Amino acid sequence: MSKVLVAPSILAADFSRLAEEIHKVDHAGADWIHCDIMDGHFVDNISFGPAIVGFVRKQTKLPLDVHLMIEHADHYVPRFVDAGANSITVHVEPEAKHDVEKTLRQIRDAKCRVGLTLNPETDFKLIEPFLDEIDMLLVMTVHPGFGGQSFRPDQMEKVKRAAEWNQSGAREPSRAGGPAKKIDIQVDGGINPETARIAIENGANVLVAGTSIFKTDDYAKAIRDLRGP
Ligand code: DX5
Ligand code: ZN
Repeated sequence: MSKVLVAPSILAADFSRLAEEIHKVDHAGADWIHCDIMDGHFVDNISFGPAIVGFVRKQTKLPLDVHLMIEHADHYVPRFVDAGANSITVHVEPEAKHDVEKTLRQIRDAKCRVGLTLNPETDFKLIEPFLDEIDMLLVMTVHPGFGGQSFRPDQMEKVKRAAEWNQSGAREPSRAGGPAKKIDIQVDGGINPETARIAIENGANVLVAGTSIFKTDDYAKAIRDLRGP
């Protein structure tokens, strides 16, 4: 079983002490830093943009895992690449208003890891045509827009299907510069030690967590508890 990776979502961090929060969670054993980008159009909230990601870049050497909950992601990909993103995840829904195939290629060409994600209401079949083009599938376990929501166990079907796809060996042998053999399966929203167990049992290997890390007073323990035994 590959190591379970923990990606704290800084959306839940104290932005008045953001540098300190990033250093703390870095030293507490985080694997990636999850940056939740919201534009107030694709989701009903506005968070932060490339400038803040650039600031985060200067505070840590951890991979920056950028989750674009925005319209026209293709227009902004270059700015997040320049800001120092290591991985960029875009939404598959038509409401995200971009050519998914083209945007995934654009991210790959920028030498960034390629992520694709779908909302709880979105059927798995919408992302199936792209599984061979991505490094990571993010299964949203809440409707995107806000931290602190409750985990949606009904989304585990999608995690299971992605894990089955990995097991099926459906992936072409990795082409030079192409994606690796298996896709990472990431979950995001309402992830705590209890729901993390459920997600891992179904096949997830990357956990995004905001509240269950930043709203505690021991980040190292919170990360250990998420990773589990
Ligand atoms: C929600 C974001 C999630 C969220 C997770 O739209 O995509 O990453 O910040 O926050 P928690 O862990 O508090 O549910
Ligand atoms: Zn997110």
